[in-house]
Amino acid sequence: MGSYAKRALVTGASSGLGKAMAERLVAQGHSVVGTGRRVDDGAVANGVILVRMDITDEASVHRSVQEALKRMGGIDVLVNNAGLGIQGPAQDIEPGLAMRLLDTNVLGAHRLCRAVLPGMRAQKSGLIINITSVAANFGLPYRAFYSASKAALERYGEALAIEEERFGITVVNVQPGEFRTPIAEGRLRPERISPEHEPGYARAMRSWAGACTTAVIPTNWRAWPPPRRASLCSGRSRQQPASTACAMSRVPQACTGWCSALSTSSSTSALPGMGKSC
Ligand SMILES: NC(=O)c1ccc[n+]([C@@H]2O[C@H](COP(=O)([O-])OP(=O)(O)OC[C@H]3O[C@@H](n4cnc5c(N)ncnc54)[C@H](OP(=O)(O)O)[C@@H]3O)[C@@H](O)[C@H]2O)c1
Repeated sequence: MGSYAKRALVTGASSGLGKAMAERLVAQGHSVVGTGRRVDDGAVANGVILVRMDITDEASVHRSVQEALKRMGGIDVLVNNAGLGIQGPAQDIEPGLAMRLLDTNVLGAHRLCRAVLPGMRAQKSGLIINITSVAANFGLPYRAFYSASKAALERYGEALAIEEERFGITVVNVQPGEFRTPIAEGRLRPERISPEHEPGYARAMRSWAGACTTAVIPTNWRAWPPPRRASLCSGRSRQQPASTACAMSRVPQACTGWCSALSTSSSTSALPGMGKSC
C-alpha cells in the first residue's frame, strides 16, 4: 500500500453511502469499481466504473470481482458496504426473512472477502473495510436482526483481521451513525405485526422517521469494547457512547486516512439530508 492512488472495490455503490464513498474516492484520485444489482453494467458514472453484482449470488460475486480485477489490474481496498435494513418485532420476523438479511449483511461480505483475499495475499497487501453500524453495539428494538447482522459482521471482521494480518492484509470495521439514505424504504418487513406489539412498534417507527434514532439504548452498552473500530459519523450523536462516536484510535495508523476519506460531510453531502448527525 505504498503509493497514494489505490484500486478500490466499493459494494452497494448504486445509492446512499456507497455511492457517496465511491465518488469521493474517485475525486481523491483513486480508481474505483462500484457495484450493485441496479447499476448499468460496464458504465462509468462520475468516474466510478459500475459493475453489476448481487452479493447473495456466489457466481455473480465471482464474475464481478474478475471484472474489477480486469478493469483496475488489481484490488487494494475492498469496502464491504452493501447492506439491507429490516424492521418489525422480532417475534414477527419469519426465519426466511431473517435469512435474507443475514445472507446479504453477513454472508455477502464474506463472499466478497473470499473473492478478493487470494489476490491481496498474492500482492502481500490489502485493506478490507466492513461497513457495520453503531447498531452493532446494542440490540435496537424492532430491528433485532439488523443489530444482530451488524454485530456478526463486526465479530467476523475482528477474527479475519487477526487471521490475515500476517499476510499484510488489514481488516477494519467502520460504524456509521445515522444518515438519511434510501435504506429505510428498502427495509425488509414482516407480512403482519402482532397486535400486542403494534403500539410499541408504531412508536418506534414514528421516532425513526425523524432526524435520528430515539430508540432506547440499553445501559450495558459500555460492556462492548471498540476494537479496530471507526465510526463514520459527522458529529457525536446524543445516544452514542463516546467510545464509539468517532473512535478510530485502534484502527491501524495506515488505515485511518482511508477511514476518514470515506467519512465527513464532504462525502455525505452528495446526498440530500445526509451528513447530519443525530
Ligand atoms: N444510512 C444509515 O444511517 C446507516 C447507518 C449505519 C450503517 N449503514 C450501513 O451502510 C451501508 C449502506 O447503506 P445506505 O444507508 O447507503 O443504504 P442504501 O442507500 O439502501 O444502499 C444499500 C446498497 O446496498 C446494495 N445492496 C443491497 N442488497 C444487495 C445485494 N443483494 N447485492 C448487491 N448489492 C446490494 C444496494 O444496491 P442495489 O439495490 O443496486 O443492489 C445499495 O447500493 C449498509 O451496509 C448499511 O447497513 C447505514
